[in-house]
Amino acid sequence: MAKDPYKIYLSEDEIPKQWYNVRADMKTDHRPILHPGTLKPVTVDDMSPIFCTKLAEQELNATDRFIDIPEPVRERYRMYRPSPLMRAYYLEKALDTPAKIYYKYEGGNTSGSHKLNSSIAQAYYAKEQGLKGVTTETGAGQWGTALSMACQYFGLDCKVFMVKCSYEQKPYRKEVIHTYDADIIPSPSDTTEVGRKILERFPGSTGSLGTAISEAVEYATTHDGYRYVLGSVLNQVLIHQSIIGIEAKAAMEKVDAYPDIVIGCAGGGSNLGGIMAPFMGDKLNGKANPYFIAVEPASCPSLTRGKFAYDFCDTGMVTPLAKMYTLGCGFIPSANHAGGLRYHGMSPILSQLYHDGFLDEARAVEQTAVFEAAELFAKVEGILPAPESSHAIRVAIDEAIRCRESGEAKTILFNLTGTGYFDLAAYKAYNEKTMSDYIPTDEDLARGFATIPKLPGIQE
Ligand SMILES: Cc1ncc(COP(=O)(O)O)c(C=O)c1O
Repeated sequence: MAKDPYKIYLSEDEIPKQWYNVRADMKTDHRPILHPGTLKPVTVDDMSPIFCTKLAEQELNATDRFIDIPEPVRERYRMYRPSPLMRAYYLEKALDTPAKIYYKYEGGNTSGSHKLNSSIAQAYYAKEQGLKGVTTETGAGQWGTALSMACQYFGLDCKVFMVKCSYEQKPYRKEVIHTYDADIIPSPSDTTEVGRKILERFPGSTGSLGTAISEAVEYATTHDGYRYVLGSVLNQVLIHQSIIGIEAKAAMEKVDAYPDIVIGCAGGGSNLGGIMAPFMGDKLNGKANPYFIAVEPASCPSLTRGKFAYDFCDTGMVTPLAKMYTLGCGFIPSANHAGGLRYHGMSPILSQLYHDGFLDEARAVEQTAVFEAAELFAKVEGILPAPESSHAIRVAIDEAIRCRESGEAKTILFNLTGTGYFDLAAYKAYNEKTMSDYIPTDEDLARGFATIPKLPGIQE
């Protein structure tokens, strides 16, 4: 049998023309998103002051299985897509495993991550609507960079609220974002009412995605011609990120492969939702039965230790409420090095799929074990991975080792979402052995759970 190539590329003509909306195939739809004031399901009209109208429509779309990718978006995708599907021959060799390991490499653009797939779409729709600009939050910085790039492409103003501990850990992120003419503000900040309140209560706060979201939403809703955009969690983002899985599936078909196991790291759910989309469609439609694993940091374990409940998507409690696995909107995780995975909740789609057993497993891994996997991967595969992506690498390695022990030649697919060039402080901490693992105690979690709203008649 011919050996697979190391890199399996599609041609530019094979870039998908449509995104896939897994929600149309779900056996049980996620519970409706609720308006924070009325506690009624939100409508496009409710969402329009916050989100671009087309994106609000995508958010509520539970019926269209496929959604056309606008041609100007596809044109921009051509600059860096299709992304390669790689066969990790050297990792397989290093692990002495019979497993076949494939990874989709999404780090080959300046944002260094998969986030550009959604930022291009969101900036395009904002421009089409005639807006002046957009605001957002960013954790690790990849989403903020991706949005600043996309806003530059389409001529929009861009304001990025970056979680303070990441802002301090990654000073050069700021310069990349400035290169694309966007503003970047460490959060919590004194530029918004929510930020000022949080700083008053917690003067030393290192920030969280939830807080940065509150600030970005407040800025957008108090400035004319601005809307808020988000790089994860939302249904619209999972729709855009489905391009990762659609391309991965097409590339695997070229070498006659199909995954037994699909692995993605999980912060808010955009990359796992993206890589698994068409495979989950196969599972929901009874065509195949791949095993899906979500990997989260032990320091922010929303799936493995969270509650499935209605909660605010932000810390300031200004956003709509989603039924999701959550640690409580007031949960502030420790200053973990995988900045992009420090979110208290989880995509409502992934939460529902997990609750219903279609997303088979969630696994929480510790930081030092993640960096051990990252460094092995960097040494044998040559790519310095982002700490977030390295959570998926950790579990791909563990599964491949399990195959070595059982003698099974399983096909493993994981999403290598980004590069770690802005995470060298984390690599330094690991190399100098100053990195520690932090697992929240039950008491820590209880404090977060206490911030889940009581909603009489909906949840007590
Ligand atoms: C490189 C990278 N991978 C993964 C993630 C996690 O995102 P999500 O949980 O939305 O897939 C992030 C978030 O910032 C990231 O920067």
